[in-house]
Amino acid sequence: MDFSNKLLKWYGSNARDLPWRNTSNPYFIWISEVILQQTRVNQGIPYYYRFIEEFPTVQALADAPIDKLMKVWQGLGYYSRARNLKEGAIQIVNEFHGQIPNTFDELLKIKGIGPYSAAAIASFAFGRVVPAVDGNVYRILARVFGVFTPIDSSKGKKEFFELAKELISKKEPGRFNQAIIDFGALQCTPKSPLCIDCPFNEYCYAYQNNLISSLPVKGIK
Ligand code: ADE
Repeated sequence: MDFSNKLLKWYGSNARDLPWRNTSNPYFIWISEVILQQTRVNQGIPYYYRFIEEFPTVQALADAPIDKLMKVWQGLGYYSRARNLKEGAIQIVNEFHGQIPNTFDELLKIKGIGPYSAAAIASFAFGRVVPAVDGNVYRILARVFGVFTPIDSSKGKKEFFELAKELISKKEPGRFNQAIIDFGALQCTPKSPLCIDCPFNEYCYAYQNNLISSLPVKGIK
C-alpha cells in the first residue's frame, strides 16, 4: 500500500478550504498554528483574520501594545499564547533579522513554537520534509498499521514519529501534513470513523481486525 499517495488522493477530493492554507507566508502560518493549538478550526477562523489584519507582520506584532493584543485575543483563552507570540516576534526581530527561520531546528528556538508548530511551519511554508505529529497522526497510524505502543509513552511518541517520517511525502510534505489533519478530522475520527468508504479499509489493521475502538492505546505507561 502506498500510504502517502492514497492519502494525498483522498485529500484531493476532501480538503477543507481553510484561510491559512491559501498562503505560504510563514508569519500567517505561525499565527494560525498557535491559534489552533487549543482552539477548534471554526472558532479560530475569525480570530485568525482579525489577528493578521491588526498585526500583519512580525514587526507589527513585536511592536504591538499588550492591551491591543489581549483585546484581539479576547475569548480565545490561554492568554499566554498571545504573550508568547509577541515575545517570539521580538525574538525573531532581534535574533533572526525579522525573518522567520526556515528550518525545523531553528523554529524550535522561538518562544511558544513546539515540535508540532515547528513542523507545520517548516513544511507548509518552506517545503521541509518533517512530519507534524499530533493526536490525529497517532490515531490514524495506530489504526492503519496496528501499532499498539501507548501513544502517551516516550517509546510510543518516538515510534510514531519515526513511522510518520517514513511515510511523509518527500515531494509534498506540506500537503501530506495538511492531508493527515483533515483525514483525522473528517474520516478517521476518534469516535465512529467512516471506515466503509475509507481508502485504507482493505489494509487497515484496526478495521480488518475489528479493533477500531481499541486503537490507539492510551494510558498504560
Ligand atoms: N490544527 C493544527 N494545525 C492545523 C491546520 N493547519 N489546519 C487545521 N487544523 C489544524
